[in-house]
This record gives sequence, structure tokens and C-alpha cells, in this order.
Amino acid sequence: FVHQLADASVPIPELLTSPLHPEPQPALPLPPDLFGLHRANSTGLDLSVPALRAPLLAAYASVQVPHVPEFDAKLASSALLTSASSYQKWSKLPVTERTATLRRAADALQAELPRFCALLVKEAFKTWNDAVGEVREAIDFLRYYAAQAELIMQPQTMPGMEGDSVLGITGESNELRLTGRGPWVCISPWNFPLAIFLGQVAAALATGNTVLAKPAEQTPGVALEAVKLLHVAGVPEGALQLLHGPGETVGAALVAAPGVAGVVFTGSTQVAKIINRTLAAKDGPIVPLIAETGGINAMLVDSTALPEQVSDAVMQSAFRSAGQRCSALRLLCVHEDIADKVIAMISGAAQELVAGDPADLATDVGPVIDREAFEGIQTHLQRLHREATPLLELMKNQPLAKADNAQTAIKQIANLIPPQTFEVASISDMKAEIFGPVLHVVRWKGDPLAVIAQINALGYGLTLGIQTRIDSRAQQLAHAAHIGNVYINRNQIGAVVGVQPFGGEGLSGTGPKAGGPHYLYRFCAEQTVTINT
Ligand code: SER
Repeated sequence: FVHQLADASVPIPELLTSPLHPEPQPALPLPPDLFGLHRANSTGLDLSVPALRAPLLAAYASVQVPHVPEFDAKLASSALLTSASSYQKWSKLPVTERTATLRRAADALQAELPRFCALLVKEAFKTWNDAVGEVREAIDFLRYYAAQAELIMQPQTMPGMEGDSVLGITGESNELRLTGRGPWVCISPWNFPLAIFLGQVAAALATGNTVLAKPAEQTPGVALEAVKLLHVAGVPEGALQLLHGPGETVGAALVAAPGVAGVVFTGSTQVAKIINRTLAAKDGPIVPLIAETGGINAMLVDSTALPEQVSDAVMQSAFRSAGQRCSALRLLCVHEDIADKVIAMISGAAQELVAGDPADLATDVGPVIDREAFEGIQTHLQRLHREATPLLELMKNQPLAKADNAQTAIKQIANLIPPQTFEVASISDMKAEIFGPVLHVVRWKGDPLAVIAQINALGYGLTLGIQTRIDSRAQQLAHAAHIGNVYINRNQIGAVVGVQPFGGEGLSGTGPKAGGPHYLYRFCAEQTVTINT
């Protein structure tokens, strides 16, 4: 269901003008060299087919997560100077030279899909299906932003207005030009350490900016490998620097350093606000911030919904990726007439999920990222055990089979949280985003618009699922929701680049949407040139 578009046979201009709809899966088995060349959803990728799994497992056996030295936060200002100096050349290149580097990197990533998947499994504990989906998404970002930059960075003649307005002043020509702004600080999260990392970097580079990239401290290895691809593809080292270290020191120093032209951040709402305050307090220009943060994402199920469809959507949305997606479902609001049936189905379906070692091809739910995350979720679960009704605690953990060393194995077992579901009394009980495989269920009756109003009142606005067989109601609820991405009668994760522009409002972020047609504008300065002819 993660319909990624890493498909060299589909020219990007077609993507821009005619949004694609998911197509039926090609017949399996595919030869291994077609891994990156088919638009496919991840559930359609049957890894029991030897031709598909062989290159992944071979890469897993040989790949090592590289050590990435920590950047000394005291050197932030000098890194900014390097970036500013590189900006002088990089920003003056024709846009097609910059985008050619992104396309070469996309080709290289496609060719190296198994190695990058293996890195994602080893460093970020992704399942194989999640890893394949993420590499495809990263390729999509590189290609989509390359095409978008070429589209929007052509100078535009401003024709004036027609009809009852003046067509311009006689004897003048007017042109609107977009340029980069300077060095951007790109701060990315561990849950998509390749796709979001490369998405931010590609957007900044395509538009003529230079980049200081601060990856999540849990996943610098895959970021390093991605940066190497871009350097080999032709991005100068000064135009793209990788600066690894803790957010509190390295991230904070970069944001506060003089000369930052913009910051793009994906992570928690709390950190986004800290960055916003730091930027506001700086001397000098007003610095733009693009922040994509979290959500307390709900799914509203009315009494006409199909329980089987709801159950499938819930499995994917709440438990896939161990719930570690900002889009993931946290709160299922189900009409009381079908609540018992839906809960029974969810419980049954969840029994089929395998929680365990992500390197095992059979695993559906891997561990959470680290001990700190694990402990935070455990604290929340203890509270739920006191205050809510447990509906499901899946204990079917699989033994570790293929961990490449004992240390990894211990870590994976230690941080495994099987899918869990609790019934809570009301929507307002949801106080914070819990970034793990924990689903909260609440029953409702009466007016569904009142449910949407309560969801809006949580203040977040990232994803919303609506399950109903009444089309007009689905539209009415979607319009009433202050939510960036609304999914009707399907799961609510896995937004496709160029097809489902992704991002929220309110506490969930500033916009513009990643993978959408407006994203690159925020990275640009605009100049109008008027010539008296
Ligand atoms: N873009 C991802 C999704 O849609 C979340 O970051 O699931």
C-alpha cells in the first residue's frame, strides 16, 4: 500500500501534469534488477520470492553501518562560512546542472537499492518492506524536486491582467525570477533517515541553496552514505556538509549561527518551537522555518463502514513501522453500533502480526528505535493499564533468527513492543503523541461532525482516516477537519511523492507540504525585475 513511484519508465513531466493512481501489481516474480524499476506497493512485494529476497539478504550479509564522527558544535560558524562561500558558485549554476546531480544520485540509489535497504534494516531497525518503500520514496523525492525546480525556476514574464484590468505599463517589461536564499540547515528524523533526509536536502539543493545537514543522532550512517552518493553525483562538498551530533548541541549551534538563510526541520512539535524561538531571537534577517512535526492522528468510523476494510486500514496505519510514522493512527473513533465487531476483527488481525527481528523476512513489527523511546512508551502503557481498558496485547514475539551479532540481537529484543490496543473514555484523554505501536479506541454516537470538532480541538492536524459508505458524509467531514492529509476508506500512511503532498497544520507543522508542488517555493527568494524599454 505504499505506492512509491521510483519508476524510471514514467517520465516526471507526466507525474507533474497527471497524478497517477495506484495500478495493479505486476505479476511476480520480478528479476532482481527490477527492484527499483517498478511502481509497486510494499505489501505487493512478496519477499518470499527468491529473486526478490536474494539481493536484499546478500546486501545484509555484507553491509556495515559506517561510523560517523561527531561534529564539534564550536565549529558551526566556520561550517556556515564554507556553505556561504560554496553558495556563490552553486546558486549561479543553471538549474539543469544542479538537477542533473540529483538525477544521477537517484539513478545510483536505484542501482544500490539492496545496500540501502540493508543499511535501513541494520541502523534504523526497519522491516524489509518498510526499507524498500523508503528507498523508493527517497528516489521519488530526488526526481520530483529536480523536475519541480526546473519548472518553477524559469524566469516568468508577468503579462499583467486582462479584462477590466490594465495589461501593464506601456514601455516596461516585468519578469519574476526565483533564486536560492543561501545556506540552509536541514534537520531530519530517524524514522525516515533516508527519504526525509534526502527530501530536505534535494529541495534545498535543487533551488540553488547550500546545505548543512544534521541527521538524527540515531541514524547518521545511512545519511553519510546518501551524502556520498550526492557528492559522487557532482554536488560540491562545500555545498553539502554532513554535521552529525546531538540536536541539543550540534543542531542548536547550527540554527543559532550567523548566516543561516533557512531551516527545514522534521521532528517533534516541542523542538520545532525551540528552533522557531531561536530564529526569532537572532539578529539580522528574518529566517524562514519549514517544520513538519507530529500528530495525534484519528480515524473516524461510522456505522455504515465495512469492518473488514477498517480492520485492514487499522493494521497498516497503527502498527506498520511499529507505529513510528508521524502519519500513524493513534486514535480509532468507532461508532458504537459496530464497535464490538470492529474491535473483534482488529484483535483477530493483530494476532497474525509477527513482532520480532526486523532482519527476519516474516517480521511485520520491528522494535522501536532505542531505549529512550521504549521507556517512554512503557510509561504511557503503565498509565493506560491504570486508566483504560486493554483490548489486545499481542505477545506473539518471534525469536531472533538472523541478527548479525549478539549486541544487535540484545538491542532488538530489548526494544520490542508488540502491538497493543486500549479503550479510552474520551477523545480529550489523548494528551500527547505516543510514537509506537499503541492504538487507542473510543466509541462514539450521535453527530460525526461533533467527533471531528473534538479531534480538531486536540490541536494537531496531520492525518485523518474516514471510513463510511456515505460519500457526502465523507466529504462533509473532510471539509470540517483541520487536518493536512485526509484518507477516505483506506489506510492513512505512506503518502506518495507528487501524488499525495504531505504535511499538517496547527501543532503538526508550518507547511508547505513535502512532495507537493508548493514545497520548493519556500526555499526560494523572489525577485521582480522591471525594465523600462
Ligand atoms: N510521509 C510518511 C507517511 O505518509 C510519514 O512521514 O507515512
